[in-house]
Formats: sequence, structure tokens, C-alpha cells
Amino acid sequence: MKKTRVVVIGVGAVGSTTAYTLLLRERADELVLIDANQAKAVGDALDMNHGMPFVGQTKVWAGTYEDCAGADIIIITAGAAQKPGEPRVDLLKRNIAIYDSIVSEVLKYNEDGILLIATNPVDVMSYFCLRKSNWPTNRVIGSGTLLDSARFRYLIGEELELDPRSVHAHIIGEHGDSELPVWSLANVAGSQLKLDEEAKTRIYTNTRDAAYQIIEAKGATYYAIALALDRIVTAILHNEAAVLNVSTLLNDYHGVSDVYLGVPCVVDRQGVREVLDIVLTDEETALLHKSANKLKSLIQTIET
Ligand code: 2OP
Repeated sequence: MKKTRVVVIGVGAVGSTTAYTLLLRERADELVLIDANQAKAVGDALDMNHGMPFVGQTKVWAGTYEDCAGADIIIITAGAAQKPGEPRVDLLKRNIAIYDSIVSEVLKYNEDGILLIATNPVDVMSYFCLRKSNWPTNRVIGSGTLLDSARFRYLIGEELELDPRSVHAHIIGEHGDSELPVWSLANVAGSQLKLDEEAKTRIYTNTRDAAYQIIEAKGATYYAIALALDRIVTAILHNEAAVLNVSTLLNDYHGVSDVYLGVPCVVDRQGVREVLDIVLTDEETALLHKSANKLKSLIQTIET
């Protein structure tokens, strides 16, 4: 059987935690770490390999772009990180310059893998990768609002004293300040949530601002995003057809087109197999449009 290979480009806090999570969960046969700082990738690979007697059979090494050949999934986490108080969108110019060379290198060696983008601002970075690679939309995926939806479910679960896995609730739109909660569809066992307006506002605000809070406290976020990326990798490699709020190119989705946004998608071996059409209230639709317009203006700044 063909070995499964996942490449992680950028082994800063997010990349190395993601690789470690994939290793612990034995997601792939081969895990390749690539970083502009080769010594960091070498060190991480050594460190992880020394833990091998305690886990499975994954082969981990610090590689080069040539190792992207035959990779099933290429996760890109490289780029400048947010400083305390800095919005994700302020990273755009710096990260586009970094991505321009990374994606060119990947394309030399791989033409049929799946690109999984985690660098912020993730929706615009994903759009950039789609245009730069010319790959089909299904194979260029952004981590989107999967993490935000996890934070949202966790906070609702805390409020209702329920396991977050039993809370069904979605954050859609930008992975960032204009994201929106789909309260109209949030449910536990098919029933509407018993939450008053004060609780809803508090939960949404804490969801949206979670990264600011964590970056203020410890400089970066990485555990939860690593688990979210692991979730997407698993859905792909196991051909799950799982519904995940990843970022994808929208085509007349509630009237929104030609922008990457986080929405519920069916994720399987092809990547994003389809975008799920969900019923939104007029107010939610208006917020989705607002989020889309914000990202479109950002896209224009990189296209001109
Ligand atoms: C997060 O939301 C910073 O985008 C990163 O944790």
C-alpha cells in the first residue's frame, strides 16, 4: 500500500505542535518538516524521533521541498505571527511575500496533493494559494472557522454544563474579527439553546476575541489549532465525508462569490467535496456579506 505522507511547512509553534499532534495520533506513515530555519526542523525531527518507542511507526524527518513529491497533504503554517493586540489582517503583506516563494517551490514537486493553509489571515492566504497554484478548489483548503467553531462549542458547553461534542454550533465567515455566529441553527439534541441575550453576546465575544486573549497571555496560540488541523487531515486521509467549517472558495453562497470564507463543508479524500447550503436568517446573511466584503477588499490589495 502507498505510504501516506504529510508535509508541514513552517515549524514555529503552530507547525511543530501540529506535527506532534499528528505523530501522537499516528495519522500518517511519513511526516516531513520543512522550515526556512533548517536547524529548527532538524531539532524538531530528532526530538520527535526520540519519542518513537512510546508511539507508533511514523517516520519523521527534516526535509526539503523535494519531499513534497507524492505528499498527500501539504500543511503550510509558515509566516509572521501576530503580536499582542494585532489583528490577523495586518499580517497580510508580509505573509503573501513568504507564500509566494513557498508555493512556487511546492508546485515544482507536487501537482496532485492537497494544500491545507493555516497562516493568517487564513482566508486570504488560501485564496492566494488557489490563484497561485491553479489547482482545483477542492484541493486548496483553509483551516477557516473550524477553530472558532470549536471555541464556540466549548464556551456553550461550559455555559450549559454539557460536553462540547454534544453541542452543534457554527461560526462562519472570516477567521477573524468579522466572523459570525449562526445562533439560528445552534442546537443540542435538535433543540434550540436555552441561552439569554447576555450569555449569547458574551459567548460570541469570547469566541471572536479568544486569540487576542491567548496571545496577550503567552504570545501565540497553537494547541487548539493543531487539533483542528489534525481533524481536517483525518477527514481527508480517512475519506470521512465529515462536515467541518473550513475555508473554501464560495460560488453564489447566499449571494457571496469569489472569496474564501469558513462555511460548513463536506471533507473527504478529495478535500472539500461540497459546500453545505445552510439556512440563514436575514441578519446572519447580512453579516456574512459584511465579512465577505471585508475579505474582498483585502484580496484587492494583494491583486493590485
Ligand atoms: C487563532 O485563532 C491566532 O488564528 C489564530 O488562534
